[in-house]
Amino acid sequence: MVVKVIPIAEQRYPDRPAVIPDVLETPTGLLSDTLSRPLRDLRISVTDRCNFRCVYCMPKEVFDKDYAFLPQSSLLTFEEITRIARHFVAHGVNKIRLTGGEPLLRKNIEKLIEMLAMLRTPGGTPLDLTLTTNGSLLARKAQSLKDAGLTRVTVSLDSLDETVFQRMNDVDFPVAEVLHGIDVAQQVGLGPIKVNMVVKGGMNDQEIVPMARYFKDTPVILRFIEYMDVGASNGWKLDEVIPSAEVVRRISAEMPLVETQSNYTGETAARWRYRDGGGEIGVIASVTQAFCGDCTRARLSTEGRVYTCLFASAGHDLRSLLRNGHSDAEVESAIAHLWRQRGDRYSQLRTINTEGLAQARRKVEMSYIGG
Ligand code: GTP
Ligand code: 5AD
Ligand code: SF4
Ligand code: SF4
Repeated sequence: MVVKVIPIAEQRYPDRPAVIPDVLETPTGLLSDTLSRPLRDLRISVTDRCNFRCVYCMPKEVFDKDYAFLPQSSLLTFEEITRIARHFVAHGVNKIRLTGGEPLLRKNIEKLIEMLAMLRTPGGTPLDLTLTTNGSLLARKAQSLKDAGLTRVTVSLDSLDETVFQRMNDVDFPVAEVLHGIDVAQQVGLGPIKVNMVVKGGMNDQEIVPMARYFKDTPVILRFIEYMDVGASNGWKLDEVIPSAEVVRRISAEMPLVETQSNYTGETAARWRYRDGGGEIGVIASVTQAFCGDCTRARLSTEGRVYTCLFASAGHDLRSLLRNGHSDAEVESAIAHLWRQRGDRYSQLRTINTEGLAQARRKVEMSYIGG
């Protein structure tokens, strides 16, 4: 008899318990970690599934038909997500980003958005409530997302060239449908829309200038992202990273750019505007110019673990606290406790060997904790 071993998804990644400290603390909104970084930004992954297989994120060879995605019972419910989000907001979070996988694949996502849109900061302000999507379902869903209270969207798009784009998404998804999704999102008022392009050398870097040209003189803010060594399955090599400085140089040679101030402390993107007034672009240089020093981001995985870094190897299990009936004060104290102990700064410490490979280390996949 052949016995097939089915890995238990729950144990795919190790977790850590979320510790409730002996002395409970009331949130002040002034939490700070070991590097004096506040907590401002919560990114919530609502599904680990995606209908794309981008080569830098969910390569087909790994995320195939036998891949063990999380079972429904592991997922946080909308009530659980909203409760955890409320606790984070009490601690100072003012921006929530829904991610995945592909967040628009989560059933009734509009309902969750409605629930999150009701949250207010301690000062009474609504949150910046946004979402990162591959755009495939955006044309269909933009109006209902807006009606539910979503503030804006960010759309991933790696190329305008059909062949290159399909080689990157690896499921033959056409460019035109993503562009249509962006247009509809714009029309229903989900702006300012940002478009994220991951630049992978030798794959889509020839598309840098055409992409810039296409979105110049439009309200869309195009951002170029350095290809990162997230997860363990994309086979990352340093020589496939096109430094952001090179991206700026290539665009500026045709359409001159000037650097401009960031919108807020801890912004991932460095902003550049066209000298002729044709709008702006952003570059996210997470490899060549790490921005850990100002990193205010926490990530909540689909199954309720809090990750204090995109490159962390384990998350803190909040779901157990919720499902074991712990009080709001206990859960809030556990969040405070883990943030106070945070010292992550992976991108600043990353070591790359002579073959251009990042030092091996157990890391979670980006589709599991979100971009
Ligand atoms: P805005 O709220 O519009 O400013 O967006 P954002 O800066 O939160 O950026 P977004 O979520 O669009 O992130 C863009 C990309 O930057 C992600 O897909 C990642 O590739 C990268 N990124 C975002 N946050 C981090 C982070 O904390 N660390 C690293 N290393 N990369 C990040
Ligand atoms: N490097 C950089 N960004 C990545 N993303 C996913 N994988 C990577 C990677 N290896 C980001 C992209 C995409 C979002 C969903 O996740 O920005 O738009
Ligand atoms: Fe899906 Fe986004 Fe990852 Fe591409 S980058 S596989 S669209 S989650
Ligand atoms: Fe923040 Fe970790 Fe990214 Fe650095 S590597 S910016 S600490 S998430």
